[in-house]
Amino acid sequence: MTRARIIGMGAYAPKRVLSNADLERMVETSDEWIVQRSGIRERRIVDESEATSDLAVRAAHQALERANLVPEDIDFIVVGTTTPDMFFPSTGNIVQHRLGCRRVGSVDVLAACAASIYSLIIGARFIEAGKYRRVLCIGAETLSRITDFTDRGTCVLLADAAGAAVLEATEDGSGFLDGDLYSDGQYWDLLYMPAGGSRMPATAETVAQRQHYAKMKGSEVFKVAVRMFVESTSALLDRHGVKAQDVDIFIPHQANLRIIEAAAKRVGLPMEKVFVNVDRYGNTGAASVYVALEEAVATGRVKRGDLMLIAAFGGGFAWGAALVRW
Ligand code: UT7
Repeated sequence: MTRARIIGMGAYAPKRVLSNADLERMVETSDEWIVQRSGIRERRIVDESEATSDLAVRAAHQALERANLVPEDIDFIVVGTTTPDMFFPSTGNIVQHRLGCRRVGSVDVLAACAASIYSLIIGARFIEAGKYRRVLCIGAETLSRITDFTDRGTCVLLADAAGAAVLEATEDGSGFLDGDLYSDGQYWDLLYMPAGGSRMPATAETVAQRQHYAKMKGSEVFKVAVRMFVESTSALLDRHGVKAQDVDIFIPHQANLRIIEAAAKRVGLPMEKVFVNVDRYGNTGAASVYVALEEAVATGRVKRGDLMLIAAFGGGFAWGAALVRW
């Protein structure tokens, strides 16, 4: 059976660090509140010259190098992002050109923070179907561009980064064993950006009313997120007859340490098996799972043969989970 295996990971975060102390000077908040409620201590933010594709291309170069491949080897590109360079063309298109890939297909996946798991599973499915041999999957965000730095409910959480994974066909039994994607649009107004689309096109008024920023009902997102994390991962594990103790490492979407802890506890996973770097990167949306996975691999937390559980959730609501034999 053909499966998709990750053969190279890359990640890139902008140089500029935004600490909790910096945020204390911008809105009414405190380091203590942010750390207690979210686990975040600092995050990275782009400068004026950087856009999402700039981060994506850097992460992709590193992933290709580690996979010992060149851009011409890639057969398809999937970019998960909520903050594309522009409405169109897709960021995938821009990445295809800037990397110097062949004229292969490229597409953006919009699933808010769940675009990490969406892009990975879509890439894996193309490979399993026998259509492509190597797919470049990327999660990239400049969430600071849609963050209202006068809204303390969101600006302490959201951040910028990119991660990339080169997926390759394998028959050796490793790779993506299974994955599930879900959505439920009844929750759309818990986390969304009101203006700039066809529902509310950009006008001077929408700009003045700060409608081009992410709006979030944080505590409601929190509850749904934990429920979806637990439901999707439990369903996946049950279907494969895998017990929580058989999982070697859990790579969750890095939104909030409390969400991760609550979900892990309910699934029966001790925190030693959970990879966390939200303290240093904040919530980087579609990039977060990639950035966490890259660090887990680079630091030796993941070893060949490990059974890995990946899960992410985001606005929409959209969420999903995957089981991977590394
Ligand atoms: O990828 C998905 C994206 N989103 C998320 O994952 C977010 C999910 N939600 C969360 O992470 C949490 O709900 C937050 C971290 C956003 C908030 O934590 P919470 O424990 O749910 O707090 P809360 O929203 O219930 O607010 C508690 C209080 C409120 O004040 P009052 O009404 O009790 O007086 C807020 O106004 O904390 C206040 N507050 C703040 N205080 C200091 C909200 N933001 C801040 C802040 N600093 N930054």
